[in-house]
Amino acid sequence: MTSESFEGAAQARTSNPGADPIADFYTSNPFPPPLDDLQRALDLYKDENVRRSEFHLLWPDKEYRADLDVLVAGCGTWQAAKYAVCHPDARVVAIDVSPTSLEHTEKLKQKYNLANLDVRQLPIENAAELDRTFDHIVCTGVLHHLADPDAGLRALQAVLKKDGAMYLMLYAPYGRTGVYMMQEYSRRLGIQTTPEEIRDLIAVLKLLPQNHPVLAAQGGAREFMADAIADALLNPRDRSYSVPQLFDFLERSDLTFGRWYWQAAYLPQVGSIARTPHATRLAELPERERYAEMELWRGLMSNHSFVAYRNDADNAAAKIHFDEDYTSDNYMGYVPIRLPWTTCVTQSLPPGAAGVLVNQTHVFPDLFVIVNPVQKQLYDAIDGQRNIAQIMEAANETDALIALELFHRLWLHDQVVFDTTKAK
Ligand SMILES: C[S@@+](CC[C@H](N)C(=O)[O-])C[C@H]1O[C@@H](n2cnc3c(N)ncnc32)[C@H](O)[C@@H]1O
Repeated sequence: MTSESFEGAAQARTSNPGADPIADFYTSNPFPPPLDDLQRALDLYKDENVRRSEFHLLWPDKEYRADLDVLVAGCGTWQAAKYAVCHPDARVVAIDVSPTSLEHTEKLKQKYNLANLDVRQLPIENAAELDRTFDHIVCTGVLHHLADPDAGLRALQAVLKKDGAMYLMLYAPYGRTGVYMMQEYSRRLGIQTTPEEIRDLIAVLKLLPQNHPVLAAQGGAREFMADAIADALLNPRDRSYSVPQLFDFLERSDLTFGRWYWQAAYLPQVGSIARTPHATRLAELPERERYAEMELWRGLMSNHSFVAYRNDADNAAAKIHFDEDYTSDNYMGYVPIRLPWTTCVTQSLPPGAAGVLVNQTHVFPDLFVIVNPVQKQLYDAIDGQRNIAQIMEAANETDALIALELFHRLWLHDQVVFDTTKAK
């Protein structure tokens, strides 16, 4: 879009008071808080392996390509601009109902000269009006605010290419119990989103009893950001999805579950639950039952981030699966690619350890991997290009079982994703 047509588009963007309380809310309270600098994201994505890891998380079995058609649905203030700046070869369409959020997105588009970003005021429910289909749809923190989330998800499914992938985030109920209590508290008292009301609400929240669920959900911290308070506690409409509800929601829209974006917390083979008497029984359950149990056991999941595919696509190969005794030869051809925000701690280690691998985006502290010196050498040989066989060679390791067990464990713990395209 040229800068003249940008002016026109900006003028054409108007709120329609009274049409939908959510559109009004996000017009007055754009969320997330606007950014005017995307340098941090640009620095991260300088490493091509970051884009490759993101791609193969969605499609382990497809050749990497950068020229994707992407829809950021309910883009908020900066999500679509960040995507466009970090993926210069992608063609990105951003839609939202909040003119304020779209204006923030437009400002970033101008600042970073994002010719690959098309910004439109359009409800998700009307996505068909774009008259295009997409390889990838990002819709995080949006569907649970819609009057009819099923209509929104169906509209997105209808513009997803047959072999496309969605990245969705929905609120989860148990971790938000305290939020829903304080929403109800605020609603009963008629709290508004004015700066004074929010200042007073923060003062009240700071004195919540120590064991209030809203504090438990944020690890006991009493710091509340004004922008986040309005979005979480004074939002006119949100709902949440437990694991079984999430699976039903997808199925009603002809979608299938792919994987959790961060999977470790949902896996009974990982973390402290794996050392309990129930570990084996849990691991034997069907997939969705396992995840439902883990949501109940973890207790404080406040949202679910996951990948979904169309149910008429053949996605069998997109599911990574390791046999119990690693009999398939395929695995040697898998290329592990490190995920961003993973790191190896080498200080204050337990005896015999050469490192502790953590993913800094994990919210549960039991999800780490301790590696011994042999495993650390294999870990250090990951470069995003070598397959497991080549990593073994580079690390002078001849025992395939040691390598396969390690890479399986790294994958379960969200340390790596796999590019399986060269595996035979
Ligand atoms: C919590 S924000 C999330 C923004 C962004 N997806 C992110 O993760 O940073 C929710 C956004 O969804 C938008 N939204 C709500 N209902 C919508 C609808 N029916 N169609 C399109 N956007 C909608 C809001 O205006 C708001 O910008």
